[in-house]
Amino acid sequence: MNYFESEYFKYKGYQLFCENVPLIEIADQQSTPTYVYSNKFFIDRYKEFDKAFAGLDHQIFFACKSNFNLSVIKTFVDAGSGVDVNSEGELFRALKAGASPKKIIMSGVGKTKNEIKLALENDLLMIKAESEEEILLINEIAGSLNTKARVAIRVNPDVDAKTHPYISTGLAKNKFGVDAATALRLFKLKKDLKNIKYTGIDMHIGSQITKVEPFVEAIEKLGELFQKVKSEGISLEHIDLGGGIGVAYNNEKTFSAEEFSNAVSPILKKLNCKVFFEPGRFLTANGGVLIAQVLYTKKNHDKNFIITDGAMNDLLRPSIYGAYHHIQPLTLTKDKKDITADVVGPVCESGDFLAKNVQITECKRGEFIAVLSAGAYGMVMSSNYNMRRRPAEVLVSGNNFKVVRRRESFESLLKDEIDLL
Ligand SMILES: Cc1ncc(COP(=O)(O)O)c(C=O)c1O
Repeated sequence: MNYFESEYFKYKGYQLFCENVPLIEIADQQSTPTYVYSNKFFIDRYKEFDKAFAGLDHQIFFACKSNFNLSVIKTFVDAGSGVDVNSEGELFRALKAGASPKKIIMSGVGKTKNEIKLALENDLLMIKAESEEEILLINEIAGSLNTKARVAIRVNPDVDAKTHPYISTGLAKNKFGVDAATALRLFKLKKDLKNIKYTGIDMHIGSQITKVEPFVEAIEKLGELFQKVKSEGISLEHIDLGGGIGVAYNNEKTFSAEEFSNAVSPILKKLNCKVFFEPGRFLTANGGVLIAQVLYTKKNHDKNFIITDGAMNDLLRPSIYGAYHHIQPLTLTKDKKDITADVVGPVCESGDFLAKNVQITECKRGEFIAVLSAGAYGMVMSSNYNMRRRPAEVLVSGNNFKVVRRRESFESLLKDEIDLL
């Protein structure tokens, strides 16, 4: 099998390290399944993106839906990032992690009244509205709070992002945003909306996009709308391109931040406004692994199974998207052959797998594996299905590591029920 290595996760001798820490040491101390993140990866990726757009007046808002561990959000905030939140809960986390409300923006196709109220009370930089009804509600709530809401309109540019249908968001058939004609009409309502200040146009066309063309197409469409709005005498401060930049899970060809910038900056420069970005996966995916222990191996008929203590409830992406995550051993051993196997968890579903029909080095009971590229949409999508405790999370920085989320206890999972018996 191929062993994937990067500056952040690589074998030294026989052991797979995260930065300067052998993952086996974390497995021994913290048990498994456990998410392990490289702090250096997060900072390097942030800087790479920021530098690529140095020629534009821009701000990055880390999409914390991809990884909302407090310490991870704090890493990005300390590096200079703003935060994009998609719910009251993410806002709560961003504030706890130390993000300034002036650098928090709120997304969401279905914001509740309370979420809008919280965004206004906390004086967030901007709310991205996705429908006429939402705009009217924001105006009403802002009025009752005697304030003026800063609002961008999310436009659905009807562009095919050529990604998995579940994470494509910019097609006419998707629930997100409004079409450009509707957006223009809503911008023109400005004079009747006393408690709204329109600040920008927003898009997010999907996730795990591996080519720049869909971005270019969408930005050109948004640019036209931007100029039309301007010609109506409404001056906007920013254009928000959302997130969606794809990463390599299995040697796919993707584009770098620099290539992204080269493709889109010339169009953006003409708009002469601030540019916002909301990357999530790009900043986190390849900065994390899920480590797990092999519980059993077996052959069922002709098929090999490696049963680990990591399962679909810990990392859902393979089950719901059929997503590929490369899996390799924490410790290399000589004289082992490769087999074709399914790597599965203990959950009582046939959909519970981390990998299907993959070439993998033969593993034995008790050995450990690393599921790569698990820093984005990993822990945040985990659940307690089968009353399994969600994984612990560990952040590595150089020679040290820190538990940044303890493994749940059964007591804590029952605390909202036990006294109600
Ligand atoms: C509005 C919005 N912004 C940003 C993101 C982050 O996307 P990605 O992790 O693909 O960069 C998402 C993800 O769904 C989103 O919905």
